[in-house]
This record gives sequence, C-alpha cells and structure tokens, in this order.
Amino acid sequence: MNQNNFCALPWVSIHTWANGNMFPCCKSDPMISFGKLDTSKSYKDNINNKSFINLRQEFLENRQPKSCWKCFEEESKGIRSMRIDQNNYYKEYLESDYFKNNYIQKPKIFYLDMRSSNKCNLCCVMCSPEFSHKIYDIYRNLDMYTDNIQFKSFSYYEQLQPYVNEIKTFYLAGGEPFLDENILNILDMLDENSEIKTIIFTTNCTIDLNKSKLFDILKKIEKHNVNLRISLDGNKEYNEKIRLGSDYDQIIKNILFLKENFPNFDLVINPTIGTLNVEHFNLFYNELLYLNLKWDLNFIQFPDYFNIINLPQDLKDSIINKFKNQNPILDQIVYFLQSNGNPLKYNEGLEFYNKFYKEYVEIYK
Ligand SMILES: C[S@@+](CC[C@H](N)C(=O)[O-])C[C@H]1O[C@@H](n2cnc3c(N)ncnc32)[C@H](O)[C@@H]1O
Ligand code: SF4
Ligand code: SF4
Repeated sequence: MNQNNFCALPWVSIHTWANGNMFPCCKSDPMISFGKLDTSKSYKDNINNKSFINLRQEFLENRQPKSCWKCFEEESKGIRSMRIDQNNYYKEYLESDYFKNNYIQKPKIFYLDMRSSNKCNLCCVMCSPEFSHKIYDIYRNLDMYTDNIQFKSFSYYEQLQPYVNEIKTFYLAGGEPFLDENILNILDMLDENSEIKTIIFTTNCTIDLNKSKLFDILKKIEKHNVNLRISLDGNKEYNEKIRLGSDYDQIIKNILFLKENFPNFDLVINPTIGTLNVEHFNLFYNELLYLNLKWDLNFIQFPDYFNIINLPQDLKDSIINKFKNQNPILDQIVYFLQSNGNPLKYNEGLEFYNKFYKEYVEIYK
C-alpha cells in the first residue's frame, strides 16, 4: 500500500465508550462520535454505518481525516503515532483486498477496545461520571455537566462471539474493568487453544483478586501476553488523596499477589500525573523501586487545571531541579514541565479539589 496517510484501524478495530459512542480507536477525536453502538444490530451493521464508511473512504483517497488529527500531529513532531504502530503490526495484511473497500463484507476484529460500563468503586478527582458512576452525584451537586445518566452499561459480548478468537489485542478499561461482567464474559469466551493475544488492562487494582471468578479468568488467560497497567498516583498519602475511596495497602497487597500467582503477567505502574501529585512523585517512585516493575506515565491534559504545565513557575523550577538527570521516568516529567502554561489555572484546580472532596465526604463517608 503506497498511501502515506493510510490507517488500517477503521477496518479492524472498534473503540466504544460506556454511553455507546463508537470510534475507530482511542486516539480518534472524542468529540467526533461515529454513532452509537446499536446492541440490537450485528457488528457488521454497526461498523458499516455512514460515518465509518466515510472515514474509510477518506483513507482510501489518501486523506488525513479530521477525527485523526492527534496521530498526524504526533507524526509532525516526530513522535511514533498509533497509526504508524498499528499499520506496522498489520503490515502483512495491508495489501489484501480486505482493505480496498469502504464497506466491510466480512468484518475482522484485530483490536478491541470496548469500554462497556462506567461502573467503578472509586471517585478519582481528575476523572468524570463518564468513567465512574460514583462521581455522578458529586458532579450534580457541584452543578457540573452530566448527561443525566448515572449508570452506563451495555452488553454486546454475544454478538462479538464469532470474532473473539481472531482478536489480536484486547484493551480493557472502563469504569473499573475488574468490576465489569461484560469484560469478564468476553475473556471467558476465549478458546483455550486460540493463538497468543495481547490483553491490556488498565485497572485501579483495588478489587480483591482472590474472588473466584476474577481469579479463574485471570488464570485462564495466563498463557497470553497480559499487560496489567496499575493506576497508582502516589504514595499512600497522595494516592488516597486523589483516588478517593482507594486503599493503598490493598493495592500493594494485590500487586504482590499478582507477582506471586501470575509471574508471566507484565505488570506496569501507570501513574496519572497532575498538579496534585507531581511535586513528591520522586519519593513515590523510589519507594516502589523494590517491586521491580515497569513504569508508564500518563499526563493529565484535561481538565486543564490539573495539567502540570499550569503550575506556578517557582514550583516548576524547584521540581525540575529535583527531578532532572535522576532517571528516564523523572526526565519525562522534566520535559513536560518545560511547556508554558497558565498558573491561574493551578489555583482553580486547588479550589476544585476542595469542593470535590467536600461533596465526596458528604455523600460517601
Ligand atoms: C478512566 S480509568 C479506567 C480504568 C481504571 N478504572 C483505572 O483507574 O485504572 C483509565 C486511566 O485514566 C486515568 N485518568 C483518569 N482521569 C484522567 C484524566 N483527566 N486525564 C488523563 N488520565 C486520566 C486513570 O488514572 C487511569 O489510569
Ligand atoms: S489515524 Fe490514528 S486516530 Fe485515526 S484511526 Fe488510525 S490510529 Fe486512530
Ligand atoms: S478508578 Fe478509574 S474509572 Fe474509577 S474514578 Fe478512578 S480513574 Fe475513574
């Protein structure tokens, strides 16, 4: 395929939110929905709606679709985009007739990123009701935007059954994926003898992993490449301050349990970095070195009052001085802090935190 702008994902991938909004992948602009998943319809009908057909047509005409701006922007900065990564992954298939039409007769799913529920047990302050039903009441009391639906969930795993064994990558988040029956059911459908797949979870890792169904399913998928990304944002004090409702000691206990019982799992600490946890992040990083795990940082860009580029300059300077040239993880934070921001936003974030926490205590404590 000689088309420089081509992306395979609209032919082989689906990403949904718990409210049913569909996208070709998680990088696609979240403000440009490709329609709502109709659970009464087949997968083939859902992914052959007008929006997806138009998107595929744009790629067939070697154009850069508007919804894909993040990939093309990253590439213009020399960053390896999801488009490049995924095209590479499927390059042996790209010349086939399957990718020549905008309508898909016999769909294949290679990459499934279906977030089918916003059921969650936590109220992380930077998150939203879209991902945690528990934040809904807090937002309502604070007169913040909600779409008036607290619990979002759909069940589509039966319609996906014919495709499950062909999927190469599952990305499972939520809500909290370990609380989502749909996710557990999809994994339960995997044929014992299916080829090796990549299964990526992003989890708050607070759920008791010894609970039989979850434990049995994790055991069942053990032979695959399981990548478990554990959201942990700071030491006990900071994690519990940000990830309201979480118990740091239980998370560490779960990590040790996973290390012992699932030695083949790739465990990654996946902190979400924002104005509330960045200052002492170095101490947290050093504290967990004994676990000998990988790290992958996730930076808050929205809401912007938690984005670390908006820290006051003196605080930025002191963090940069403390973190620079210590190790590649802290260097990523130093790099991020070098962009200019708006320090007025920082105070807005602190005020929001206090309001959010007050509501949380009133509702849940
Ligand atoms: C929405 S959660 C869903 C999965 C699971 N409940 C968890 O927390 O890992 C997925 C990831 O998004 C992160 N996250 C939450 N709010 C965010 C924000 N405003 N910006 C960037 N990442 C955010 C979470 O910390 C978590 O690592
Ligand atoms: S170009 Fe990027 S955003 Fe668009 S479908 Fe491909 S991976 Fe997703
Ligand atoms: S655990 Fe995940 S989904 Fe739940 S509130 Fe926190 S970030 Fe959001």
